[in-house]
Amino acid sequence: MSKEKVILTGDRPTGRLHIGHYVGSLRNRVALQEEGDYKQMYVFIADAQALTDNMEHPEKVRQNVIEVALDYLACGLDPSKVTIFIQSQIPELCELSFYFMDLVTVSRLQRNPTVKTEIQMRGFESSIPVGFFTYPISQAADITAFRATTVPVGEDQKPMLEQATEIVRRFNHIYGETLVEPSILLPTNVACLRLPGTDGKAKMSKSLGNCIYLSDPADEVRQKVMSMYTDPEHIHVQDPGHLEGNCVFTYLDAFSKPEHFARYLPDYPDLEALKAHYQRGGLGDMKVKRFLNDVLQEELEPIRNRRKEYSRDIPAVYDMLRAGCEKARAVAAQTLDDVRKAMRINYFDDRELIAEQAKRFAE
Ligand code: TRP
Repeated sequence: MSKEKVILTGDRPTGRLHIGHYVGSLRNRVALQEEGDYKQMYVFIADAQALTDNMEHPEKVRQNVIEVALDYLACGLDPSKVTIFIQSQIPELCELSFYFMDLVTVSRLQRNPTVKTEIQMRGFESSIPVGFFTYPISQAADITAFRATTVPVGEDQKPMLEQATEIVRRFNHIYGETLVEPSILLPTNVACLRLPGTDGKAKMSKSLGNCIYLSDPADEVRQKVMSMYTDPEHIHVQDPGHLEGNCVFTYLDAFSKPEHFARYLPDYPDLEALKAHYQRGGLGDMKVKRFLNDVLQEELEPIRNRRKEYSRDIPAVYDMLRAGCEKARAVAAQTLDDVRKAMRINYFDDRELIAEQAKRFAE
């Protein structure tokens, strides 16, 4: 192992994290943490970014900072291996964004597909906050301040990484090799790229009420699974069923492992066999849902229990976050020193510059 990677990723604290976050990113982060093939790994709570479209609801962001921290710990992120911090506590990120703003045009931001869709989704057409409009720039600062090489995120973040890469190239071109170009690390299982909501809608989202949360109690998970959207044409058990758009099967793609079949559904060797039977007809939705519930409960129960455990000592969670912020800040401060030096705005520690200017005035 070369241990050259610097892994960094984050989440907006706008709610508790759900199983879409889990399969899309969290599960992968814990695996990366355990592989240990990195020099540094950072996971942060992007509270300042959450404020870009929640300025009037700071209490919502404030509350969700601790919810997300609990979700991280519950999933198995280990503060002794990963630096967990809060974005707003790193003022160097503002400074870096300030310089990055000069490297990006308004039209480039307008073309950013993520910004574009989010503007539409939030009805921001004519009244978009400047902070929201420019958040790809601050996200580039988040990434580069820590010299991240590897950014594990969902597919929706691709345009953000492209924008960050452009900024890095432009900075390095103007000021000399200073910043590191990041690469995106996408989940490999396609079902995990964009887990649909329980209603079959495109994406899990709190406002649609179609999420299964990591902190949901067991009976709530069960209820949500039992009322999931399947195949509207699969009316009688003997009817052939369809898999496209059938989110019970999409969830099984994302969650089920061969050993689950041996444990809960020994009549089928694997998911392919279950799918084949469903498509042939003769397999009822209820049976598949019960299986999905077993699979989900097995995965979610230890997470839920650990979350409860950590929530018994909230001050300790804040202490952990504080330590993470201090560590992260030291790293960002070092990068900003290098940035100021590259830009030659480190006036007071550039002896040469002072001497040069003195000489110019002496002539
Ligand atoms: N935009 C990400 C999200 O919506 C959060 C985020 C902010 C992020 N800065 C980042 C992710 C830097 C990766 C790297 O969840």
